[in-house]
Amino acid sequence: MALPTPRLELRDLVCRFDGMPVVDGLSLELMPGQVTCLLGPSGCGKSTTLRMAAGVEHVTSGEIRIDGQLVAGPGVHLPPEKRAIGMMFQDFALFPHLTAEANVAFGAGSGSEARVRDLLARVGLADKARKYPHQLSGGEQQRVALARALAPRPRVMLMDEPFSGLDNRLRDGIRDDTLEILKEEGTAVLLVTHEPDEAMRMADQIALMRRGRIVQQGAPYNIYNNPVDSEAAGFFSDINILHGVVKDFQCETPFGKFLCPNLRDEADVEIIIRPQHLKMDFDRNGSGPLPTPSDGVPARGAVARARFMGHESLVEMRMEHDGSILKATIPGVFLPREGTKLWLSLRRDRCFVFPCKAQSKLSNPLLN
Ligand SMILES: Nc1ncnc2c1ncn2[C@@H]1O[C@H](COP(=O)(O)OP(=O)(O)OP(=O)(O)O)[C@@H](O)[C@H]1O
Ligand SMILES: [Mg+2]
Repeated sequence: MALPTPRLELRDLVCRFDGMPVVDGLSLELMPGQVTCLLGPSGCGKSTTLRMAAGVEHVTSGEIRIDGQLVAGPGVHLPPEKRAIGMMFQDFALFPHLTAEANVAFGAGSGSEARVRDLLARVGLADKARKYPHQLSGGEQQRVALARALAPRPRVMLMDEPFSGLDNRLRDGIRDDTLEILKEEGTAVLLVTHEPDEAMRMADQIALMRRGRIVQQGAPYNIYNNPVDSEAAGFFSDINILHGVVKDFQCETPFGKFLCPNLRDEADVEIIIRPQHLKMDFDRNGSGPLPTPSDGVPARGAVARARFMGHESLVEMRMEHDGSILKATIPGVFLPREGTKLWLSLRRDRCFVFPCKAQSKLSNPLLN
């Protein structure tokens, strides 16, 4: 059986400005109804990628296909209006002199009254159809913009931080509703964000970008739990980093030994652990029950700071072995006094061991 054709296919995309590659060999496929988040730090090339897919930026090289049709490539550049795409950008603009209804109808073309009514109802604005943009709240305007973008039944929806102008509570509701509608329509969605929480919440697949390239791609669960390097791990949450040196394919730390297969002696490694995977012995004398083997070896520190964060407490520990600070989050309220001595251990199954970047490039490019 033939493989289904991707809705949107980006192949070896390159975009250079003044000779500098801003997008540097990027490939990505989106299937119908699939939401893909392009996630990455500011300036890594997310918007440029989206703009090339939209056709408002020319590709320097590479190809873009929509439902198998070449829309950009050597000698080919279809303008945005010929690509069957919808766009929703952060600075979306409604026509101020048109009602909500007329704004949506503008996208849908003639004879589309039923479609317009249906879309406005689906974004929860049936009763606001006759209002002008200045009579609508920010969130309502955004929903009109969504309905307008959906009106011509685009095969691909390109969204560039479309929810960033909204306050948190409004945003969660609108983005969930938006996704539901897009999925129902079978639209493939490419959504740009620099917020990992937003990507985790919305994406079927996340493409993590850095310096114009995709460094990791997969389901949110896999990217979060199996990051390619410490930078990828650190992009999704606070992380703690322990430093160590390899000897006999192992690295000795105050929390016990870690295996470092494939790394040569003397290589510097980083052991990464997220704050929620540090375990704290709640006995304040630090004497508590003996740790089990899976807890690994505990190390002791003194509380430097403890803060209540709402659903969890963040405790910063100054470690006795080297004076470094390790951050641990504990569900609920746990606010030990500054200076309290406590034993910490690591959930070893949640640690990531990586060679230090600068060095691994010199010693073993395959590990990078
Ligand atoms: N038209 C242009 N001419 C020259 N340089 C550009 C142009 N457009 C973008 N750039 C540069 O390309 C790089 C990537 O820009 P882009 O807008 O794609 O980043 P981004 O990942 O969307 O970042 P952000 O999260 O801040 O929106 C930036 O360094 C930017 O200055
Ligand atoms: Mg951008």
